[in-house]
Amino acid sequence: MSTVVDIKGISLSIGGRDILKDINFEVYEGEIFTILGGSGSGKTTITKCIVGLYKPTSGSIKLFNRDISTLSQIELDNIRKDVGYVFQGAALFDSLRVWENVMFYHLEHNRIEERKLKSMAIRYLEMVGLAEEHLDLYPSELSGGMKKRVGIARAIATDPKLIIYDEPTSGLDPITSRLIDELILDLRNRTGSTAIVVSHDLVSAFSISDRILILREGEVLQIGSKGEILNSSLPFVREFLKKGLGDLYEARRA
Ligand SMILES: Nc1ncnc2c1ncn2[C@@H]1O[C@H](COP(=O)(O)OP(=O)(O)O)[C@@H](O)[C@H]1O
Ligand SMILES: [Mg+2]
Repeated sequence: MSTVVDIKGISLSIGGRDILKDINFEVYEGEIFTILGGSGSGKTTITKCIVGLYKPTSGSIKLFNRDISTLSQIELDNIRKDVGYVFQGAALFDSLRVWENVMFYHLEHNRIEERKLKSMAIRYLEMVGLAEEHLDLYPSELSGGMKKRVGIARAIATDPKLIIYDEPTSGLDPITSRLIDELILDLRNRTGSTAIVVSHDLVSAFSISDRILILREGEVLQIGSKGEILNSSLPFVREFLKKGLGDLYEARRA
């Protein structure tokens, strides 16, 4: 099993505050790896370190077996093409149509004619359950769930090997959240891509993850399979699961 992300001992301080403290974990090819933690625990910061947007104060990060701190800007840009990032909130460009949002990377980097770009956009929209009829709409004309789908279509438009989803279900109703969960699973199953999902939605984490990392105040408390996490002996983890899963907690453990 090859390792897609290998994080060794990263710490990050900003303005004298320790945001991340000696974080260690690996993400294996093809798995759905969820980083679970409360608000402000450092989840987004970890993903920003992985894509090189934040530079850890110490420690090392390997992405596709390359130490990202040794890469030139051009090499880093190249490697980023292999990483799709679905931002917290959909973060679409309001003044751009759906197809322009989806094909944003290509509009910026490649000279491809509009007709071709639109037909490529249809392919990615179909992968996330949307269709040609959505091509020319503006984000303001879409529901919350549709915006998330467009955000995911944009992230997969470079056929990435790794997709990072930052809080993909936040702000969505439970039914739409489950549909997004299914989409994340479906994309992994169809493309074989690896996924890192940042979440505080335990129901979602326990339905889609292969492995889960529990983060608290910038520290890794536990990493394990769903079963291992459910049977955690750590009081914090047990409380966290009880609060987030409610009645499902005892039912799942049984
Ligand atoms: N650029 C920054 N400057 C100062 N503090 C930051 C910065 N980025 C993140 N933080 C702080 O780091 C902590 C973790 O943030 P974040 O990774 O966004 O948490 P999460 O995604 O788990 O909600 C928070 O307390 C946040 O205020
Ligand atoms: Mg966050």
